[in-house]
Amino acid sequence: MDLKDLYRDVILDHNRHPRNFGRIEAADGEAEGHNPLCGDRLRLSVRMNGERVEDIRFEGKGCAISTASASLMTEAVKGKDRAAIQELFGKVHALLTHHDAAPDATLGKLAALSGVREFPVRVKCASLCWHTLNAALGHGAATISTE
Ligand code: FES
Repeated sequence: MDLKDLYRDVILDHNRHPRNFGRIEAADGEAEGHNPLCGDRLRLSVRMNGERVEDIRFEGKGCAISTASASLMTEAVKGKDRAAIQELFGKVHALLTHHDAAPDATLGKLAALSGVREFPVRVKCASLCWHTLNAALGHGAATISTE
């Protein structure tokens, strides 16, 4: 199996079986993200333990890329503190926008999103959850739009 097949399988798996789907009651932070290009919405809720994301869930209706990206993101950020999440966001952003760069070795399954950069309109699908997470962590308005 080559890398492209592996990446495709990761996306398909996380779209069909999204991890951390749902909503946290009594969350410490919540935000809604909206992709105006398609109308899709994503709601994130987080529970914090100090600076650390103890639990995170997402819900909403989105395309395969946005659902898989949100699922992968929740797995990747659970247990991390704010600083580590910002660092990871930077790496994911680079992955989605730097056309020829090899995925950072520390990205793990998130590297599966690298195929998205060949389709600029889908970059918003993949980054919607990350912008929404920033808002849920208090770095922006509670409702964000990727416009
Ligand atoms: Fe709507 Fe991807 S088409 S988020």
